[in-house]
Amino acid sequence: MLLGLGGGPRGAAMGSDRQRWATLYPELGTGPVSTEPCISPAFYEREKERVFKKVWLKVARDEELPKPGDWKVKKLHFADTSIILIRGKDGVVRGYHNICSHRGNQVIVEHGDEMFGANRAAVVTCRFHGWVYDAHGKLVHVPSEERFYACFEKEKNGLTAVRTDTWEGFVFVNLDPDGRESLRDYLGAYAEHMRGFPYGELDSCHTYHTYLRCNWKVAHDAFAEAYHVDTIHAGTLPNVFSTGLANVKLFGPHRTSAVCLRPGEHFRPVQKIADAIGGGYTVIHHRATMLPLTINPDHRTDFSFELSVLFPNLLIHVSEGLWFTHQFWPLAHNLTRWEGKYYARKPLTNSQAWALHSAQILFRNAWLEDTGTMEATQVALSSGVRKVMNLQDDEVLVRHGYHVLDRYVNA
Ligand code: FES
Ligand SMILES: [Fe+2]
Repeated sequence: MLLGLGGGPRGAAMGSDRQRWATLYPELGTGPVSTEPCISPAFYEREKERVFKKVWLKVARDEELPKPGDWKVKKLHFADTSIILIRGKDGVVRGYHNICSHRGNQVIVEHGDEMFGANRAAVVTCRFHGWVYDAHGKLVHVPSEERFYACFEKEKNGLTAVRTDTWEGFVFVNLDPDGRESLRDYLGAYAEHMRGFPYGELDSCHTYHTYLRCNWKVAHDAFAEAYHVDTIHAGTLPNVFSTGLANVKLFGPHRTSAVCLRPGEHFRPVQKIADAIGGGYTVIHHRATMLPLTINPDHRTDFSFELSVLFPNLLIHVSEGLWFTHQFWPLAHNLTRWEGKYYARKPLTNSQAWALHSAQILFRNAWLEDTGTMEATQVALSSGVRKVMNLQDDEVLVRHGYHVLDRYVNA
């Protein structure tokens, strides 16, 4: 089945239904796409400087820091730094580089790429010599302060702030000290499209992460199309999804689309039971009680979930009763930390707990199938034998990604 035409920002597509996205977005072109951005260390160096150190990046969810004094440390390898996010007594989450103004120790000594903690006084203390900073980044206590010299300016030696802002419970940072663009401006119309979903209410989170020996885009791209579902997901989701996309919309560097069910989809009976018990723990629930009006505006009965990409490295998917994200953190040109998170409403009964567990296993298995391709792709691309990738029309989100990246990296 060919999916119906989505109303893009420019209205309905014209021309052949088989190349509907190329017709709607001719500026993306139709030619092959270079593999260089996925295998070149030099490209990665430019990407770090011109993308990851310049744009807003989601680093946390509000629910990870529910109370004043709660903190999270997030390692950002691409910038050789890590940040402390701490919720102040005023309820605001602020971000700082995790470096002490005394002799440069990590204020919170890190074990791994993410750490969580809490301090009810809403301060953090460097364990080396005990300097204490409050949630506004202010240096509030220096042991033996009287032994520092007159030139020491305590008020100028707080934590080094990072621009931090929140949208729909997603906490973002921007590492560019000279950056002027606000988070709202960066998100642009994407924020209008994806806002209003009850992200914070569906807060039972099941999360996975692993390190993949591939470029972050190889991992990202494998989740940004539905062309692969008949092959890669033949085990978990056979004959469930259409391989095309619907309602593709481009919002500046960001993009979104709808993934739809195949006519007469073949979800397994146990999956349907789990979904019915949970009121939408899988992506087959057809009632639309919580989707914003911008999502599935045509009220398609085969709508399954919205697949959106928030440039550069975050995919947000929403569906009735659940939402899930994938995020891709580069550690090197050929090494990526992937984080997959599945969110749904907390179960209230034993049968709902079973249904949620069943749905989580389904997602885990599907994600294992997805991640199973990535390292092999990187090995083959790195051979340099093929210089380009050939993308079809329903890989338009992937194509747009490289188009945007080229603008940022080579502008
Ligand atoms: S390095 Fe932090 S208190 Fe000395
Ligand atoms: Fe997949």
